[in-house]
Amino acid sequence: MARFTFPDGFHWGVATSSHQIEGAWRADGKGESIWDRFSHTAGRTVGGANADVACDHYDRMQEDVDLMREIGLTSYRFSIAWPRIQPEGRGPVNGKGMDFYQRLVDTLLEAGIRPLPTLYHWDLPQALQDAGGWPERDLAGYFAEYAERCAAVLGDRVERIAIFNEPWIFTLLGHLLGTHAPGIRSFEAFARASHTVCMAQGDAFRAIKSVRPDLQIGTAFSMSACEPARDEQEDLEAAERYHRFANVFFLEPALLGRYPDAFVGGLPEEAMGIRPDDMERCRAPLDWIGINLYSRTRVEHRDDTPIGAMPGGEAIGPLTDMGWEVWPDALHDMVMRIHRDYDGPSIEVTENGCAYDDAPDANGRVQDGRRVEYLEGYIAALARAVEEGAQVEGYHAWSLLDNFEWAEGYEKRFGLIYVDFVTQTRTLKDSARWYARVIREHGLEI
Ligand code: FCB
Repeated sequence: MARFTFPDGFHWGVATSSHQIEGAWRADGKGESIWDRFSHTAGRTVGGANADVACDHYDRMQEDVDLMREIGLTSYRFSIAWPRIQPEGRGPVNGKGMDFYQRLVDTLLEAGIRPLPTLYHWDLPQALQDAGGWPERDLAGYFAEYAERCAAVLGDRVERIAIFNEPWIFTLLGHLLGTHAPGIRSFEAFARASHTVCMAQGDAFRAIKSVRPDLQIGTAFSMSACEPARDEQEDLEAAERYHRFANVFFLEPALLGRYPDAFVGGLPEEAMGIRPDDMERCRAPLDWIGINLYSRTRVEHRDDTPIGAMPGGEAIGPLTDMGWEVWPDALHDMVMRIHRDYDGPSIEVTENGCAYDDAPDANGRVQDGRRVEYLEGYIAALARAVEEGAQVEGYHAWSLLDNFEWAEGYEKRFGLIYVDFVTQTRTLKDSARWYARVIREHGLEI
């Protein structure tokens, strides 16, 4: 064991998203989002949960920033709710909605915390869904307009911004599997949505740079180190295809102007609706790459899927309440792969964390030792990647608060802070105090 100290200026953060914490779903002119509609539809979320109130962060923002300061955080990744800014997804800016994010940014800066906004963390204005949603190409242009407006207003106080949160997850779960909003189950909808999102990423990149050339732009991609389930050539190849599909399908069009070779029968260009000049439009030389990583994925060869692969094999590490395997090396391996494959880019770990249902004991203390162990393992793995030369600028634990975990409702608790959803009382868990120490010492034993 040796003590590892992170480089000067390394950011210690947490991440949240608008829909999962804000509540106030109709306040100050906010429009309806696809997640409002989805969770208000019977049978879509566990226990019929919705995020009408969630953590009531919209009205408790100051209290929550005070808690961030208490932990000693130096970065806060949050998302902007598009339907607060443009209730119908197009047209004039709703000033009151924008004011909220201006106040949030100013409050963070006063507290010495770097604001790291994400423009889209899944809460599409319902009016745009009614017009066809992400499978509809026009969405790319509307999104770029929205991105430009946010950048114009906030860009003087923000250094870095993320365009999308997990493009692969929201296109896949929302359009192919139907388990997330808007709840569609169609390969074609998924294929078309993916391509619109890639174009939107390029359009938004250029729109932001046109008003704020110095703003450093990235996207937070869902990633998971892909490993063959068995030590066999066909699983090895399947794991590689799965990596291209799940980890870099939305990254390579931005950096390289082409989709990676993930499908056994070639890219479904027709289903995706790719037109001659589209790939140039998808290009976006991102200034930094965000990695959201929770676990690894073991992959086996399969003949019955378009990419000839599926997650498989038995988990070896312990499972969190999500059923996700605890596997700290995955963070090291993924960061190193991105470092190697794309020429040492600037990287931010934009999400990493675990769900456990620990609650306050008789003395009001939340003893979440399993979370401490999880974070310790992953941050140590990240430290090894930094030691090996990866340019990692920050780490963000998911999440600040227990919150609305999408279709899972409130049962899955990811917070460093416990939230009593009846009283809205917040309680720092043991993991928050442990993280505060890591931040103070700017490192840990590895
Ligand atoms: C990620 C999402 C985030 C949260 C975590 C647990 O996929 O980006 O909103 O739900 O998973």
